[in-house]
Amino acid sequence: MDLFEYQARDLFEAHGVPVLAGIVAHTPEEAKAAAEKIGGVVVVKAQVKVGGRGKAGGVKVAKTPEEAHRYASDILGMDIKGHTVHKVMIAQGADIAEEYYFSVLLDRSNRNYLAMCSVEGGVEIEQLAVERPEALARVAVNPGVGIDQAKADEIVEAAGFAPELRADVATTILRLWDVFVKEDATLVEVNPLVKTGAGEIIALDGKVTIDENAYFRQEGHAALEDKDATDPLEAKAKEHDLNYVKLDGEVGIIGNGAGLVMSTLDVVAYAGEAHGNVRPANFLDIGGGASAEIMAAGLDVILNDAQVKSVFVNVFGGITSCDAVANGIVKALEILGDKENKPLVVRLDGNNVEEGRRILSEANHPLVTLATTMDEGADKAAELAYGK
Ligand SMILES: Nc1ncnc2c1ncn2[C@@H]1O[C@H](COP(=O)(O)OP(=O)(O)O)[C@@H](O)[C@H]1O
Ligand SMILES: [Mg+2]
Repeated sequence: MDLFEYQARDLFEAHGVPVLAGIVAHTPEEAKAAAEKIGGVVVVKAQVKVGGRGKAGGVKVAKTPEEAHRYASDILGMDIKGHTVHKVMIAQGADIAEEYYFSVLLDRSNRNYLAMCSVEGGVEIEQLAVERPEALARVAVNPGVGIDQAKADEIVEAAGFAPELRADVATTILRLWDVFVKEDATLVEVNPLVKTGAGEIIALDGKVTIDENAYFRQEGHAALEDKDATDPLEAKAKEHDLNYVKLDGEVGIIGNGAGLVMSTLDVVAYAGEAHGNVRPANFLDIGGGASAEIMAAGLDVILNDAQVKSVFVNVFGGITSCDAVANGIVKALEILGDKENKPLVVRLDGNNVEEGRRILSEANHPLVTLATTMDEGADKAAELAYGK
């Protein structure tokens, strides 16, 4: 998950990286109050999870609280590369003498960490990387060792820092490495890292990506999620611990096992070509133990998707046998009651399939159609979705 700049700033501060005061504001009034609190020159900064805010007009220097009010009202609601600005950060103004660049990231292709650093930071870093790659030092970081003092010294030297600055910059890099490790990040980027007129090194803009797989040991991280931006159906699925991804089509999909669900998406997309090009509406893997509650929660999420016209339940009974799944479906339909108002095609196979099919036939639910094969089920579900 990518963090907002203000969240990165807060993490930096918590790990001793030098930053300036910053206060989040949702309205021009809050922006004005924040500017008054910070005092002096401030910078009004759009908080969107995309780079290049400065160039897009989302970073404005305000000399007075009134100016902060005005710029905040300009920037709030602005669209920056498809991201609407819902909040701004009022940042203490820095007296910038020089702008540098530093980042450390998980370098998947080399199974390593990579640090990048340049004395030529600022808004043109992407261009610099392309046009004069030699100006951007790239230093591999052994995961077993990390960035220690020697590595930090190597990075600042490779980046071409003047000798008198090296110690301070290296110290900041060590703290940024702390952020990277202790916060389970896959990216920590500072652009610009600045030297002020007084010679201080400060992280002025931060970008941090945290690894969601580490939530279990990072208590605070779930709270960093941007609730405004999550799809409501995905949020609901998450509440029930379901592996759900919203897609764009009309045929809702439920299956057990990621591989089976992936192939179900393919088969439904293919079947849809014969039925007005209907497409799968989602990925949903209800996993091994397809209990009635999980089935009901999954169906509930899918039926709440207004785009869904039919649902294809494709389950291969393994440890959880088909009769248990069938009972789960029947109970789920009871739990949902009137909410279940879209046709459901069910294909069961595997462990105890005969009994599973018998249970569903006997339940004789008006909206449920049984299919014997995956292809047949996909075709039926696509046909029902198109007919609607
Ligand atoms: N607190 C600040 N004080 C003074 N100038 C700033 C401040 N924050 C940003 N800037 C200036 O604005 C430029 C762009 O801001 P930045 O936060 O890097 O946004 P982005 O990278 O999205 O364009 C920086 O390179 C810097 O020159
Ligand atoms: Mg920047």
